[in-house]
Amino acid sequence: MSIDRYAVVGNPVSHSRSPEIHMAFAEQTGESLLYERIEAPLDGFIATVEAFLENGGRGLNVTVPFKGAAAAWVDRLDPGAALAAAVNTIVEDPTGGYVGYNTDGPGLVMDLNRLLPGRSRLKVLLLGAGGAARGVVAPLLEGLAGVLTIANRTEEKAAGLVATLHGAGYREVRSAGFADPGGGYDLVVNATSAGLSGGVPDIPEDTVRGAFCYDMVYGGETAFTRWAKSAGSAGTADGLGMLVGQAALSFQLWRGVLPDVEPVLKMLKEATA
Ligand code: ATR
Repeated sequence: MSIDRYAVVGNPVSHSRSPEIHMAFAEQTGESLLYERIEAPLDGFIATVEAFLENGGRGLNVTVPFKGAAAAWVDRLDPGAALAAAVNTIVEDPTGGYVGYNTDGPGLVMDLNRLLPGRSRLKVLLLGAGGAARGVVAPLLEGLAGVLTIANRTEEKAAGLVATLHGAGYREVRSAGFADPGGGYDLVVNATSAGLSGGVPDIPEDTVRGAFCYDMVYGGETAFTRWAKSAGSAGTADGLGMLVGQAALSFQLWRGVLPDVEPVLKMLKEATA
């Protein structure tokens, strides 16, 4: 029998660390599989996915910019992926077809539980209201946040996301603008793409004083974690643990076994250092 094949599809995808993460999980759990990167043309996501699955591929991770297209392509959506309108994990449905999941938010919550053990009902500020923020809001509200404020540079977009969440039955969530996002937070999560151009969200320093500050982007010290440290945060982390966490949850969906994230996270940190 041929070996089970998985892949991450994106554009660009050459930077993706998913292959090394999943191959490390496979070794750790004794699962036999291969995991590759596939760059799909911007107008060729569906053809790429279908070719991979028709040629024996068993499942896929999906990354930028195809998570919305993946949500539209699958036969069924897990409720979390439906709310996020984004799929990062495509799983074979034993009854036929494919199911779309989003493990980004649960992966973030897994990492935050590791970093802040035993904490719950936190007062949380989420910065950003784009795709990355949308993917994590419901898991944050279910897993960690007692009350959530979503602040965005364009405040109406935060208000729109809050309205969606209210419609889905989440009550403890409100929107804010960057000028006055409030304070006294336990946790501040940066889900903006400001860091891609080396920037940080333009919020008052007071906002993060005493709060644990988490950047969903990975790369050791980020512009946001550096700024948060100087602004008096209680601690900082980049998104490497979230990356490994979402991968572990994808692996579990495909293989039925949840790998231990700690040794893989340690390996990646050492490789980066
Ligand atoms: P992603 O999938 O990374 O979330 P996106 O859907 O384009 O990408 O959303 C980008 C998010 O980062 C938005 O919340 C955006 O704020 P606006 O809605 O006001 O555009 C935010 N963002 C991007 N650059 C930013 C910057 N320099 N400062 C603050 N927020 C920024």
